Amino acid sequence: MAGRILLVDDDAQIRTSLSEALDDFGFHVTLAESAEDALSKIASSEPDIVLSDIRMPGMDGIELLKLLRERTPDVDVVLMTAFDDMPTVVSAMREGAFDFLVKPVNLDELEEVLKRALADHRTRERARLQVEDEAKSYQLNELVGRDSQMIQVFKLVGQLAATRVNVLIRGESGTGKELVARAIHFNSPWAPEPFIPVNCTALPETLLESELFGHVKGAFTGAINDRRGRFTLAGKGTVFLDEIGDTGPEFQAKILRVLEDGEVYPVGGERPEIVEARVVAATHRDLEARVKEGTFREDLYYRLMVAQVDLPSLRERPGDLSLLADHLIEKGAERLHLEPPTLTKEAREALLGHDWPGNVRELENCLTRAMAIATGGVIRIEHLGLTTDSTGSGPVFRTMDEVEAEHARRVLEGVGGNKAKAARVLGVSKPRLYRLIEKHGLE
Ligand SMILES: Nc1ncnc2c1ncn2[C@@H]1O[C@H](COP(=O)(O)OP(=O)(O)OP(=O)(O)O)[C@@H](O)[C@H]1O
Ligand SMILES: [Mg+2]
Repeated sequence: MAGRILLVDDDAQIRTSLSEALDDFGFHVTLAESAEDALSKIASSEPDIVLSDIRMPGMDGIELLKLLRERTPDVDVVLMTAFDDMPTVVSAMREGAFDFLVKPVNLDELEEVLKRALADHRTRERARLQVEDEAKSYQLNELVGRDSQMIQVFKLVGQLAATRVNVLIRGESGTGKELVARAIHFNSPWAPEPFIPVNCTALPETLLESELFGHVKGAFTGAINDRRGRFTLAGKGTVFLDEIGDTGPEFQAKILRVLEDGEVYPVGGERPEIVEARVVAATHRDLEARVKEGTFREDLYYRLMVAQVDLPSLRERPGDLSLLADHLIEKGAERLHLEPPTLTKEAREALLGHDWPGNVRELENCLTRAMAIATGGVIRIEHLGLTTDSTGSGPVFRTMDEVEAEHARRVLEGVGGNKAKAARVLGVSKPRLYRLIEKHGLE
């Protein structure tokens, strides 16, 4: 695949091993040991593709990418790093990286990516991506995950952020659909414009039109003033249509008209208002199935689904569980003004063993509850309120009696059978402890 490539890495070993591989793939390779070195060699080496590490002393790979996008927009840049977090992937993609590889680099994947890059380079002019709004980059830290499906999502978020196309986000409940919608908005050049969420199922039919499109003074009883609707309030920002799959025919017809006409008539108004907002919709429903059964309009489906983001369930990315738990504990602790508690090994294992039908939201609720009842900065297994049955097919709810017995037994064991201590730890009187021991046969 004859093509010219400039390989940038501060690690001499990686330069050697990767340049051998690139040679094998048929590239002419030029080596650079820093971003600065790469910039000085770019004119003479005339690469089609720059393959660069991100973390390097001096200028980093993202900075290099930015400069290259400005100076040589025709050169495709592929970045690689061992640091596979959301902010890095998103900024890489948003800044216009052609692709992103996680180190250690898989050679098959590398070859595939470079082939695509070269084809891309040769067949079309690349549109230059918009410059980022640095102020909003904090939003990036919100989305956690390093599962390959999530990395894919981050890439998409970065790419979609630079566009105005309508997006449909799909995923089970609690998988982070709203968070992704916000990430797309707040990483876009239109981030200073409003992000307006609309819970489609919470709007009563009678208010629907005026909420979405606004009304003029006197349009109906109670319309004391002119009021703008959500589509015009959003300006050039984003209207987030949550639970779009649960809407009825009337709602669907109205949204379709907005998307087709690009304008709305406020209730009672004679002049249309232009709608410039981007629409991001979300659903946990199977929309294709709804289209087939005739409960969701096909024309609306195609309007919404110019691009789609599919979020994996938490079950499908067990590798992210621990990472998410730590993130959510930190986030919850900040909200509760606590030092973040730690998880015991057993508690962490119990989290891993659970099925999480309610996904990240369920995990977050579970940890928030646990933080409220945990003492001494440690979350133990019993604070989680999780028990999994032996088939591992889901949580089994226990009775208060069972929980009481297990907890008392645990504490008694923990204090080596010392009843005075056990009563203190449990916060009960000694007579009450004796009754518990007798009731549950704990001796
Ligand atoms: N990848 C993630 N990293 C960090 N937090 C996450 C992630 N995904 C979801 N969350 C958190 O989990 C909670 C649920 O996310 P969100 O509301 O976006 O889900 P949803 O798919 O819209 O759920 P629902 O279908 O129930 O409305 C939020 O508090 C969100 O911050
Ligand atoms: Mg939601």
